[in-house]
Amino acid sequence: MPSDRIALVGFMASGKSTVGPALAMRLGMEFLDLDEAIEHVAGRRIHEIFAEDGEAAFRDLESQVLRESLAGPSSLVSTGGGVVESRANRELLVSRTQVVWLDTRFETLRRRLGSGKSRARRPLVDSLGWEGLRALHRRRRPLYAACAHYRFDTDRDIPVRVARRIEGALRAAEETRA
Ligand code: S3P
Repeated sequence: MPSDRIALVGFMASGKSTVGPALAMRLGMEFLDLDEAIEHVAGRRIHEIFAEDGEAAFRDLESQVLRESLAGPSSLVSTGGGVVESRANRELLVSRTQVVWLDTRFETLRRRLGSGKSRARRPLVDSLGWEGLRALHRRRRPLYAACAHYRFDTDRDIPVRVARRIEGALRAAEETRA
């Protein structure tokens, strides 16, 4: 195993939830999806938390679940696209995990998000619209860059290939450190 903990970050639909399990299997690590963990703790879907309590309450819960998940046994965590909005979250990720950024062009994301899958977990897609999402993507890229130890383009490759590329880079870095 190349490192104790790994966190996948990136915009919605960058592939975190599909690359994550494939990468965890290759590395023999436990996989945790932060969005799923939030829904489990809250007992509600993400769109319900946004609608009933507001985005700020969701962000508080997200930070809490992130802190708890990084205190547990070593694992590979796939985060929600907005986790980097909080400086405390970014600092936690950088200090406790190998942060892997799945970087994807907006046009690719738009195509994937347009398929309508997983909308229950992505209320921002409906509330912001495409131009709002494009602006959010532009504003967040420097935040992902600020905490990433590794960056991978995910525009062209299918998730299993992205997982293979990440595994190769992590193992190579491990050998260099050894
Ligand atoms: C969000 C991304 C979602 C989910 C929530 C908010 C965001 O996760 O956490 O809808 O602010 O970008 P994914 O990135 O897994 O879609």
